[in-house]
Amino acid sequence: MKKRIFSGAQPTGQLHIGNYLGALKNWVALQDEYEAFYCIVNLHAITLPQDPSTLRKATLDLARIYLAAGVDPEKSTIFIQSDVAEHAELTWILSCISRMGELERMTQFKDKGKGNTERAGVGLFTYPVLMASDILLYQTDLVPVGQDQKQHLELSRDLAERFNRDFGETFKVPEPYIPKAGASIKSLQDPEKKMSKSDENLNGSIFLLDDPDTVTKKIKRAVTDSGTTIEFDESRPAISNLLSIYQILTENTAEECVAHFEGKGYGHFKTELAEVVVEFLRPFQDRVREFDDETLLSILKPGAEKARSIAADTLRKVYERMGIVG
Ligand code: TYM
Repeated sequence: MKKRIFSGAQPTGQLHIGNYLGALKNWVALQDEYEAFYCIVNLHAITLPQDPSTLRKATLDLARIYLAAGVDPEKSTIFIQSDVAEHAELTWILSCISRMGELERMTQFKDKGKGNTERAGVGLFTYPVLMASDILLYQTDLVPVGQDQKQHLELSRDLAERFNRDFGETFKVPEPYIPKAGASIKSLQDPEKKMSKSDENLNGSIFLLDDPDTVTKKIKRAVTDSGTTIEFDESRPAISNLLSIYQILTENTAEECVAHFEGKGYGHFKTELAEVVVEFLRPFQDRVREFDDETLLSILKPGAEKARSIAADTLRKVYERMGIVG
């Protein structure tokens, strides 16, 4: 029996190279070794206001991105979260064993709620409980995510352990899989901040659907630190960030990258980095255009059926253990 992985992304805003390097690239790499479930988490998306027709389109567009990135529907199950109602059902159950204090400590809630908890949506508050339900429904072994999801993963583990302790062994306790390189790609405009879909400064992110000119301009405009050498150095986060994008895309070691740019300046480095990113995006964008809606639905519908059969099994156990006989 293969071990199982589960991960997902929100159909909000445009996906950027941080999403790819921190998550999607690893989803693809892991799909041979694991039984993989990759979800389009549209119920998470509505924790912040969304325009309905934009959300519907973004949901299918995200399926295109998964496929273009190399998620293979023959190997992995791809589905839309709202197609499997068990996600919302388990969220209610787990919210009954979650504590206000532990949810209040979630840094993403504090960031997205902009510190104003009186005005923040209740869905934004319980967001991590829905995420725990996603993961725990599938008896997941491993969850490949970027660094920003680590705290949510810890909550998922805590809830699984608490439920198992109080009601008997039910859930597998999942492990995070956070890559060594690429777990937190930073904004090109501010290396103290992560590259983010919701950043108002569009120059901070390289979007997966940016055209070659835009990519080149964004990289040329990227902030750099003082110093001239092209090296990984914690005290120089801007150049280290650009260099890690280069390193992961070229699949070279850190030492090989540094040696390659020895004696070269920022201008030369940025030109080469822009070429590498453009060459990576070109075939990716061609593949995005290959999938029409009909093809997508022919993947997503059976995906949801398969997911539902596993999710329903887990939920039935949960109801039995709690005395809510289903
Ligand atoms: P989302 O949609 O914000 O991001 C999708 C994935 O991209 C990673 N990521 C990054 N990695 C490196 N550098 C960055 N700058 C960067 N920005 C984003 C994220 O860590 C994520 O892995 N809550 C999740 C979606 C979710 C989920 C789940 C994930 C819902 N249920 C269950 C795993 C398991 C989110 O908002 O991802």
